[in-house]
Amino acid sequence: MWVEKYRPSKMSEIVNQKEIIHSLISFCKKERELPHLLFSGSAGIGKTTTALCVVKEILGENWRDFTLELNASDERGINMVRERIKKFSRFSGLSVDIPFKMIILDEADEMTSDAQTALRRIIEDASRYCRFILIANNVSKIIEPLQSRCAVFKFTKILSVDLIAHLRVVSKNENIKNDEEGLKMIADYVNGDLRHAINILQATSSIGGINKKNVKTVLGLTKTNEVETILTLALGGKILQARNKMIELIKVHGMSEIDFLKFMNQAVFKIKINNLNKIITTIAKYDYRVLVGANPEIQLTALLSELSTLNDAERGI
Ligand SMILES: Nc1ncnc2c1ncn2[C@@H]1O[C@H](COP(=O)(O)OP(=O)(O)O)[C@@H](O)[C@H]1O
Ligand SMILES: [Mg+2]
Repeated sequence: MWVEKYRPSKMSEIVNQKEIIHSLISFCKKERELPHLLFSGSAGIGKTTTALCVVKEILGENWRDFTLELNASDERGINMVRERIKKFSRFSGLSVDIPFKMIILDEADEMTSDAQTALRRIIEDASRYCRFILIANNVSKIIEPLQSRCAVFKFTKILSVDLIAHLRVVSKNENIKNDEEGLKMIADYVNGDLRHAINILQATSSIGGINKKNVKTVLGLTKTNEVETILTLALGGKILQARNKMIELIKVHGMSEIDFLKFMNQAVFKIKINNLNKIITTIAKYDYRVLVGANPEIQLTALLSELSTLNDAERGI
């Protein structure tokens, strides 16, 4: 996996996040004063990688012996977290080179607020020998008393230019031909998620060079015009045909439901429709439902059927 092969092992190699890296490097110079840390931000932008770099910087070669990595969303819950941390922190086993042990707790925002309150106690009890790095996608889901015990770092999405530059380095290293258009298409698609970008790059390389055509194929974007057809069918009241085509796109051609909605939103602006306002808000409604985890096939079918009624209204039926 290229995402692992190209995971930075030193802070200086992290793409973007310059100010964060700068502060962390100075924190690491006075390691005994290192506070607990909280890293937040969306997926694939370097939170876990940076946490591992900090740990390596502070603990050196034998970092693995003094680091505990836990996933807070583990279904065994806060009691498992408590037990593992207790066991891990019980015997200090520290030496001059190792100022404290480190605990990385990923997906901390998936914990309930009760669990987070319990975690706060756990952190206090373990603080003598341990430093924590909490990682969360959404910092607002972390209770205030936990936030206030940590130095908080908000990671940002990777800028398109930096993302493309990084993809170019990886392609060069892997001897893969690439052109600007292909790389830009990946960058536009992933919305600042570097992990996703590298995965698409690797998938595309398995069918050839990184150009627009190959990237489109990998992303299932060769079928975007079909979405326009489906929209027209639905608005024309042909729900069954529209639904069959929609299912074919998703099941056979592998278009994701979220992409389907994204392309439908774009298609709305391509064809001439009067009832724009209602159609867009309808698409937005189903986008939300799919995002929060409702059954996508049922939701998209309902969308098509709702679109057909919108057009009825338009025709005054
Ligand atoms: N800022 C970054 N700099 C360099 N590589 C990155 C960066 N962000 C993500 N990556 C790439 O994506 C992979 C996953 O990154 P990770 O740190 O696990 O993301 P997160 O924890 O924010 O979801 C890494 O192995 C690396 O290949
Ligand atoms: Mg992570």
